[in-house]
Amino acid sequence: MKPIHVGLLGLGTVGGGTLTVLRRNAEEITRRAGREIRVVRAAVRNLDKAEALAGGLPLTTNPFDVVDDPEIDIVVELIGGLEPARELVMQAIANGKHVVTANKHLVAKYGNEIFAAAQAKGVMVTFEAAVAGGIPIIKALREGLTANRIEWLAGIINGTSNFILSEMRDKGAAFDDVLKEAQRLGYAEADPTFDIEGIDAAHKLTILSAIAFGIPMQFERAYTEGISQLTREDVRYAEELGYRIKLLGIARRAENGIELRVHPTLIPERRLIANVDGAMNAVLVKGDAVGPTLYYGAGAGSEPTASAVVADLVDVTRLHTADPHHRVPHLAFQPDQLADTPILPMEAVRTAYYLRLRAFDRPGVLADITRILADSSISIDAMVQKEPAEGEEQVDIILLTHVTLEKNVNAAIAKIEALDAVAGKVMRIRLEDLGAK
Ligand code: NDP
Ligand code: HSE
Repeated sequence: MKPIHVGLLGLGTVGGGTLTVLRRNAEEITRRAGREIRVVRAAVRNLDKAEALAGGLPLTTNPFDVVDDPEIDIVVELIGGLEPARELVMQAIANGKHVVTANKHLVAKYGNEIFAAAQAKGVMVTFEAAVAGGIPIIKALREGLTANRIEWLAGIINGTSNFILSEMRDKGAAFDDVLKEAQRLGYAEADPTFDIEGIDAAHKLTILSAIAFGIPMQFERAYTEGISQLTREDVRYAEELGYRIKLLGIARRAENGIELRVHPTLIPERRLIANVDGAMNAVLVKGDAVGPTLYYGAGAGSEPTASAVVADLVDVTRLHTADPHHRVPHLAFQPDQLADTPILPMEAVRTAYYLRLRAFDRPGVLADITRILADSSISIDAMVQKEPAEGEEQVDIILLTHVTLEKNVNAAIAKIEALDAVAGKVMRIRLEDLGAK
């Protein structure tokens, strides 16, 4: 059978890895796909930089040469960012080409429009590499768990921030040094604030939630908080209490809607996911039939991400002659079956909390604090008062709460911060048990 022709947009960390893996494993990939997957052209900005890697592959600096090339069957978008990536993808679809992308920003922001266009044109748009790098989590959610009503999922889905948290904890490394290392290793986004401030994780969570619950992409409704405000003290106190702090993306089916949130989270250290370190990712998915399932692997990097891109290429190659109505739907649910279940505002979320505050070590202070919590219907699970440092009158007080409403915690924090004996702001980190329930 004649080869299927692929055009690459981008030959950077992921594009370079994709070309390398396709070439190295060409024979096995052909045996799996049923025909050769041949890259026939690639677009880059800097021809000199890409020449050695391309090894004779025709290059262009105009990406529209690739999407408009009538010889190309599949366009692989690996340039990142919103524009011109969106325009290129839409034009590829309009030209009747299938699209493979690793661009979570693009999918989270414009996925609804892109999938509608692809549906109308009868082409596939696949995005396995957009979430959790090499872990086939899209495939697992869309196909492997298709019998289940998904109850919740929680993931470490940003390798850069997990790498930073791990290095800070294990080596006491400084935040900025570890970030530079993540950039050198090709993990970080072009704008690393996306990694540190939880935005990249929120893009990925948006995509996962759409597939898990059969809802449209709603990135703008996701609550997003990053790791830049975390202190070494909080990391240490959490450990002393038997927890690890991870940047988690959480999507949960609640009574009145869906929780969609990214924030630093205390997790009991005995959970497997609490021990996922470095740039590794893991996603815990709870289905009503299967129970909890855990997916672990490299969440970023050249060849791990290429592994997901090539898997999509094989899928598209196998299915591209199938009747479009009988292919796996882009978002797991049939396009006319998407639900309008609301995304809950953060104040309506229910979870447990770690609260740290600095207070004068005086009689009655703890009583005031616990009274405020009780008045806000917040039940305390544990409380620790640290020894004051030499010559200091203020002490750190750490409280763990049982599960409660975020709105009540906001109100209680405002009252605690207003107490004369309390200095500065209360540090609040959410806590999730992530047990089988
Ligand atoms: P890189 O910056 O390493 O590579 C980008 C490539 O796109 C380069 O070859 C660049 O060319 C080319 N490019 C950029 N803009 C244009 C343009 N307008 N026209 C033609 N070529 C262009 O990015 P990554 O490979 O790291 O990331 C690619 C995508 O994959 C992003 O969406 C990213 O979020 C996603 N991703 C990345 C992962 C990773 O570990 N790095 C993991 C999972 C997903 P030149 O070098 O000449 O400028
Ligand atoms: N910047 C992303 C991360 C790349 O660190 O996880 C993988 O999507």
